[in-house]
Parts: sequence; C-alpha cells; structure tokens
Amino acid sequence: MKPILEMKNVFKTYYLGEVPIHALNGVSLSINEGEIVVILGPSGGGKTTLLNVLSGLDTITSGSLFYDGKNITKLSDRKKTKFRKENLGFIFQTYNLLEHLNVYENILVGKKLAKEYLDIDKIIETVGLTKHKYKYMHELSGGEQQRVSIARAIVKNPKVMFCDEPTGALDEKTGKIVLESLININKEFNTTMIIVTHNPGIALIGDRIIKMNSGKIKEEIINKKRTDPKNIPWG
Ligand SMILES: Nc1ncnc2c1ncn2[C@@H]1O[C@H](COP(=O)(O)OP(=O)(O)OP(=O)(O)O)[C@@H](O)[C@H]1O
Ligand SMILES: [Mg+2]
Repeated sequence: MKPILEMKNVFKTYYLGEVPIHALNGVSLSINEGEIVVILGPSGGGKTTLLNVLSGLDTITSGSLFYDGKNITKLSDRKKTKFRKENLGFIFQTYNLLEHLNVYENILVGKKLAKEYLDIDKIIETVGLTKHKYKYMHELSGGEQQRVSIARAIVKNPKVMFCDEPTGALDEKTGKIVLESLININKEFNTTMIIVTHNPGIALIGDRIIKMNSGKIKEEIINKKRTDPKNIPWG
C-alpha cells in the first residue's frame, strides 16, 4: 500500500484572546492510495479542520504534510491552488450546482478545471444518472443533485476526493444511493476517498475509521470488509 497523503504531528491553533484552542492537537495520519477513510466525531471535534488542512485549503500552525511522498507543507498559495486543482476533488453537504445548466453541462464545468479528464458518459453511468443527463437541477431530487456534484468533482480524475458530510442533507434511502455512487467511483477509478460524517453507520462502508475528538485522533479502526451501503444502519 502506497501512502498518498501523510500528516506528521500537525497542530492548528486559534487564539481566543490569550487562550490557545487546538483545532488539531498533534495529529499524525497516513492515507493510502485507493483507500476509503471515514472520519467520525462530535461537533467541534476537528473533522472539518482536518479535511481543510489535508487538502491545503487551510494553513497549519506546525507539523508537516506530504503528498505522494513530497513535502507540501511550505508550498506558496499559488502552488497550493494549482496542486488542489490538479489532484483533489471536493463534495460538501450543499451541492453548489448551477441551476441554469443541465446535468451534463454541470459536469462539464468540472472538466474545464482539468488538463486530462475522464469520459463524461462513463461517469454519468457510474453515478447512475444516465436517465437524467439532460435534466435541470430543479427537476432532480437532493440525492440526484448530490450525484451530479460527485460527477462534477470526479471528471478531472482527482487522486483524492474530500467529502464533508456528503449525505448530511439527505434521507436514508437517497443517502445510501449517494454512498453507493462514491463506492462505485472508488472501484472504477481507484479514487482515494476521505469522508467526514456524524453518522456512525457510514463508517462501515470504508477501509478505515478514524475517530476524532478535541482535535486528536482518539481511535483508528481497520474495517477488514467494507459493508454495502444498502446494509448499513442509518443514524
Ligand atoms: N476560524 C476559527 N477560529 C476559531 N476557532 C475555530 C475556527 N475554525 C474552527 N475553530 C474551532 O476549532 C474546533 C474544531 O472545529 P471543526 O470545524 O474542525 O469541527 P467539526 O468536527 O468539523 O465540527 P462539526 O461536526 O460541527 O462540523 C472547534 O472548537 C471550533 O470552534
Ligand atoms: Mg465540520
């Protein structure tokens, strides 16, 4: 197994007056290529901070970061932006799609960010939207819209996908369909997935579960066999 992202003894510290608050309090972590990692933990535990730091959206106070063996801790803002654009994809709880574009055109927006890109029809099929290719966003359910945003993020063939509460706005049935799409993407394109969630059932779909609290990794569990999203408990 080859590590794609590593962090060593990372601190992210904010100050409330004189009082330091460690959103990340000495976190070391290694994520392997093709792995699905689920990050669980209570509100304020540091999950989003961890994602933002791992993806270079946010700076760190101390420690170091590596991507594919290269030290990226001190990259300039311009280089970091280029790095994100070339290697990383993002999905959030809200879909951030363009209402005046159809499914196919929304996915094209992601393609424009890339030098090389994946076959759009193949992606549409992988996320199960073939029937909906020419529909506009208001004609789609929440789960379908989230799958458009997954398709848009994957079209530039990122090495790593960061998903912050990807099913947070969805009910059980549509949430599970969205998770199946993420699994299909991982299998089809070997995309590394980092999924942040409040929902402990979701942990079972991945290869590893990381529990965060108070800015620290409290527990790491290897999940030997991924559970099909259809069969996980919800909530
Ligand atoms: N810009 C900031 N300034 C000060 N404190 C911050 C800032 N961003 C985050 N924090 C603090 O860092 C801690 C971790 O926040 P973070 O957003 O990473 O939590 P989280 O686990 O994602 O929570 P949630 O599940 O509610 O999204 C919290 O105590 C938060 O208040
Ligand atoms: Mg958060």
